[in-house]
Amino acid sequence: MTLESHDKIEKEILELRREIEKHNYQYHVIDDPLVSDADYDRLFRRLVELERQYPEFASPDSPTQKVGAPPLEKFGTVQHTLPMLSLNNASDREEMAEFEERIRRFLKSTGPIEYAAEPKIDGVAVELVYEEGRFAVGSTRGDGIHGEDITVNLRTIRSIPLTLRSEKRRPPERLEVRGEVFLSRKAFQQMNREREEEGQPVFANPRNAAAGSLKQLDSTITAKRSLDIFCHGAGAVTGVSFASHLEFLQAMKDWGLKPVPFARVCQGMEEVLRQREEMEARRDDLPYEIDGLVVKINSTELQRRLGTIARSPRWAIAYKFKPRQATTRILDIQPQVGRTGTLTPVASLQPVPIGGVVVKSASLHNMDEIARKDIRIGDTVVVERAGDVIPYVVQVLTGNRTGNERHFVMPDRCPVCGAAVFREEGEAAYRCIGISCPAQLKESLKFFGSRGAMDIEGLGDKLIDQLVELSLVKDIADLYSLKKEELAELERMAEKSAENLLNALGRSKDATLPRVLTALGIRHVGEATAKLLAEHFGDLPSIMQATEEQLMEIREIGPQVAKSIAQFFAQKENRRVIEKLLRAGVRFRSEPKREGTLTGSTFVITGGLESMSRVEAQKRIEALGGRVSSNVSRHTTFVVAGADPGSKLKKAKELGVRILDEQQLLQLLEA
Ligand code: IVH
Repeated sequence: MTLESHDKIEKEILELRREIEKHNYQYHVIDDPLVSDADYDRLFRRLVELERQYPEFASPDSPTQKVGAPPLEKFGTVQHTLPMLSLNNASDREEMAEFEERIRRFLKSTGPIEYAAEPKIDGVAVELVYEEGRFAVGSTRGDGIHGEDITVNLRTIRSIPLTLRSEKRRPPERLEVRGEVFLSRKAFQQMNREREEEGQPVFANPRNAAAGSLKQLDSTITAKRSLDIFCHGAGAVTGVSFASHLEFLQAMKDWGLKPVPFARVCQGMEEVLRQREEMEARRDDLPYEIDGLVVKINSTELQRRLGTIARSPRWAIAYKFKPRQATTRILDIQPQVGRTGTLTPVASLQPVPIGGVVVKSASLHNMDEIARKDIRIGDTVVVERAGDVIPYVVQVLTGNRTGNERHFVMPDRCPVCGAAVFREEGEAAYRCIGISCPAQLKESLKFFGSRGAMDIEGLGDKLIDQLVELSLVKDIADLYSLKKEELAELERMAEKSAENLLNALGRSKDATLPRVLTALGIRHVGEATAKLLAEHFGDLPSIMQATEEQLMEIREIGPQVAKSIAQFFAQKENRRVIEKLLRAGVRFRSEPKREGTLTGSTFVITGGLESMSRVEAQKRIEALGGRVSSNVSRHTTFVVAGADPGSKLKKAKELGVRILDEQQLLQLLEA
């Protein structure tokens, strides 16, 4: 490559980085995107590609580095230039008056005092150090003097700029910023839902989830956690000073940092008290958790004069909101069936007001959580309600036990539809596998009609809601007996749209076997597995009759998936719905199978082959209509034994399966 084009590449890379940084800022910091997600992705992909092709231009400051770095063995230690202090708390007006009184005494002042008031973010305190405008080091608070070096993790947070903006204000040589890393309630709920599904312990609240995410030694995990930051203070800053706290917040904004929102100047304590009322009233509407108002003396000169006492500044205080915890009793525990069939144990509580809302129930998440916290029916517990998050049990007050408490046992039948309830190995979740379980029906219908499944155009969410709520549909097969007049009467439907839907339903009856299999929503059976099943077994009855062992003859199907399939078809209700689908005319259409000399034969290959790879052997067998499986069973036709055959050869001998050597296989393939 010529020097000139090399320069051109570098220029493009730098240009792209600037462009992407700008969009990151617009999107993640000021919530005002300038381009569509698709346009952003295009720029991002182009940069990734150029950096891959020209590694000489790679840079740790590139926005592409926000995906995480190789895992660490352990975190290093960082000494804070200035100690990271904590705040004194006040919980009522009197304590706030005392705070003001102390300040007056100290300053020997009777005049008006100007405060800055802003929300106290319920997150994890961090310090960010920028050197010459570049993010250099990030750390936790630690003991206030020494923190943990979590730079790699902080680098993944979208709203932490790797390079400061300098158009409006030149960044100082060294800038230390303090802030709060947090997780939005939505991101927290999403994360816990996923953890619940995967049977991992859930996080008690967004703060714990944020802390757990920041403490990951593998920063690629942190990168996936949607963490965010609000910056609220300074550590050591060289060369510049600020007259007030609000001025510093503005400077941070100019540098592209994300300052704490809703900060305002309050003239005197009355205004502070009003501001607290206002913030507390808005608390539930904010997408993140705040637990009070931080009240600071606005003037930095006065802050300096006031100084610190016992590890807290004299010039600031946290004015806490009403607590959101209360003590109550668990009257009963009942499983609740979610829309994906998960049974969540829910506690009915002795009703108790928490932060203005009467709480009557609390989620116990799953059986592992109940065991971990040792929660029993009759227990006295501390319950917390955080915004729109479902209340949960923080802790059992075991000192109040009388001995009459009872353990909760998960039922083996679904409380809604009576189908069997299963817990998969290694999972915390119990699931109802009833195909027409009313608790799951809407989701099942949505999935049934979706694109990779039956692809029924016009079967939208709103329509499904009506169909289920008016009991027009009680299982997926009922879709096929819907009448035009019925449909036309529904909201947002007319004769024409009813007709279109019926046509779409009619067309869907011709769907191929793998599609219908997918549409049934069997756990672990997505499009790929459905295809394998269809290819291997050929038709629906064979799949329905297959034992777990036979299912595992498909190389890609392991014991967990095999079990899920067998369990699904073992349910009487599931079989009834399938019969109903067949009667309605759904064909479960098998694709014509490749016919050849090996049709009907199942092969297992063990050991190495000389004339071809095992993958190639499989392809050639399949081209002649044969099937290749990874497990030997009574249904295996041939075991091909290559060099160093494994235990499969032994099993073949035990079962009396015919054994071929490579030569014999070649003869079959060439016949
Ligand atoms: S100013 C001397 N402002 O609360 C400490 N802190 O309980 C000055 N916090 O360690 C801190 N929101 O991590 C300040 N708007 C805010 C805050 C805030 C949350 C945290 C901070 C501090 C802790 C004290």
